[in-house]
Amino acid sequence: MKYCRVVIGKDESEVAISFCEYFAEIVNSRIERIGFSAVAISGGRTPDEIFRKLSVEYRSQVNWPGVLVFWVDERCVPPDVAESNYGRAKSLLLDNVEIPPDNIFRIRGESDPVKESVDYAELLRANLTVKNDLPCFDLVMLGVGEDGHTASIFPGQESLFETDEPVAVTKDPRGQNRITVTGKVINNARNIAVVAVGKNKLHVITDVFSSEKGKLKYPIELVSPVHGELTWFVTSDAFPSEDQLASR
Ligand code: 6PG
Repeated sequence: MKYCRVVIGKDESEVAISFCEYFAEIVNSRIERIGFSAVAISGGRTPDEIFRKLSVEYRSQVNWPGVLVFWVDERCVPPDVAESNYGRAKSLLLDNVEIPPDNIFRIRGESDPVKESVDYAELLRANLTVKNDLPCFDLVMLGVGEDGHTASIFPGQESLFETDEPVAVTKDPRGQNRITVTGKVINNARNIAVVAVGKNKLHVITDVFSSEKGKLKYPIELVSPVHGELTWFVTSDAFPSEDQLASR
């Protein structure tokens, strides 16, 4: 793993607090400078505790009207289905903070995937600042799967870190269609955060932090900011000790 900062919390709550402090600092300073801040959030269960804390403890500490919310990826399901990343973020966060509806840019999981991937790429170009000729997020928040996937880029789909298409259609291992922002846009962000909680992520994170250069195994290892900063937010049971790393 290229140079990155690792923030370790004793439990999920502590990790969520660290992330919320980091999130507030990034978006508030960006809003102060240019009037808005564009963030891309991931799905899955890891963000739940973060969303809860952003909705309560940090509700008054973030300049929500200046935040533009996008998604890193979406399952190709309607927004009212439990699996919807948008639906989950809406109920745990967006309905509880003062983000104007016009600042919420969901991926339409109910639409035709190919058409939506084209439309979402256009939406990114129309609403984000550009750097290196690519849409540039102030913050991309990622998770990591036990198989080392991130966003909806699964093992075997690493070429999505090379494509010039900002958004792509993929399939998860179960065959479910996904729409995902691709690797070059992820790596073009000013700030990238990977959040991982729980001992079920220890094995993949140990591999990531002990892999030899050039022998990458997982899509998550291709997350490498071109000009920004990468920070991992992990619980202590998800991150290897010095001895565990040394014994690899
Ligand atoms: C998704 C996410 C995905 C997620 C990982 C981790 O749509 O599922 O974007 O990349 O971050 O699968 O999921 P958990 O947080 O549930 O472990």
